[in-house]
Amino acid sequence: NRLFKIATGQDSKTTRIKLRREEMLSHRPKIMVIGSMNMDLVIRTSRMPLPGENVFGKGFKMFPGGKGANQAVGAARLGAEVTMFGRVGKDIFGERLLKNLREKKVNTNYVEKDENEATGIAFICVDDTGENSIIAVSGANMRCSKNDIDRVKSLFSRMDLLILQLEIPPDVVSYAIEISHGYHPPVILNPAPAKEFKIELLDSNDILTPNRYEAGLLSGVKIKDLSSAKLAAQGLQDRGVKAVVITMGERGALLADGKETSYVPARSVKPEDTTAAGDAFTAGLAVALIEDKELGEAVHFANDVAALSVTKPGAQVSLPTRKEVEEFNR
Ligand code: RIB
Repeated sequence: NRLFKIATGQDSKTTRIKLRREEMLSHRPKIMVIGSMNMDLVIRTSRMPLPGENVFGKGFKMFPGGKGANQAVGAARLGAEVTMFGRVGKDIFGERLLKNLREKKVNTNYVEKDENEATGIAFICVDDTGENSIIAVSGANMRCSKNDIDRVKSLFSRMDLLILQLEIPPDVVSYAIEISHGYHPPVILNPAPAKEFKIELLDSNDILTPNRYEAGLLSGVKIKDLSSAKLAAQGLQDRGVKAVVITMGERGALLADGKETSYVPARSVKPEDTTAAGDAFTAGLAVALIEDKELGEAVHFANDVAALSVTKPGAQVSLPTRKEVEEFNR
């Protein structure tokens, strides 16, 4: 697939890739997600309050969330065999998040239960347009350590792909990316939420999936339209990232892989809640790439997964199954 085709071409690596392809014909794709788990505390409101203003909310619900866990569930619902790695607290939210992951067929054997910090939470407001604003309190997520990565790194060679985000300590993300290069799996880094990160660590097998704000921050180019998105992609590539996919919500996604830059529009849907759309996209992209789709085709699939996710409320509960994505395309 495209992810592997942009490999360095070294002989041993090429052979390994060929072997992986043969294995993949008989196995479900294996993905490890290294990242966050949060309990999302979600308020629906007609509109977001202005600073200093009180508004009445329309309803409150709790949903399993966290970018890492969302991406894990997203990939599992699309058919991948997913292992989650991260930290929750020893509390009721942690228990509920793990139970939910297990119900969604995600392997939680490597999730640590932190003695000292509570499970991460996210306060999320969603307005009538489906737009959201989020304040996350990281808790146990930020207690992930390099030692934790050392404990699970032997699993990397069994994976087809690693997915990471930036809701755990950035130095741990960097460490995991560096270590991964000694094993075979390519990395998808979803650099969310927006913060500076040493994206130079990604190698030629890896893919960066920022949204327009994250791409703007990392490239120094403010994205307003397609041409500024292209400039931002170029800026990210100038920092050494070979393959970049910039997600632009209802406007689709821009991909640049060093050979070509192209735009893949999104299908139009009525947004109910945009929470986890980026997570749905990254999960869709990961599964499609492992299944040997070209990057453009994989972005098309990922756009559909993201579009379906915004039609339902909540994070993980909104992520579509493989069947739902296929029906969306009929
Ligand atoms: O990407 C959406 C996620 O971001 C939410 O589920 C919330 O937990 C925050 O981490």
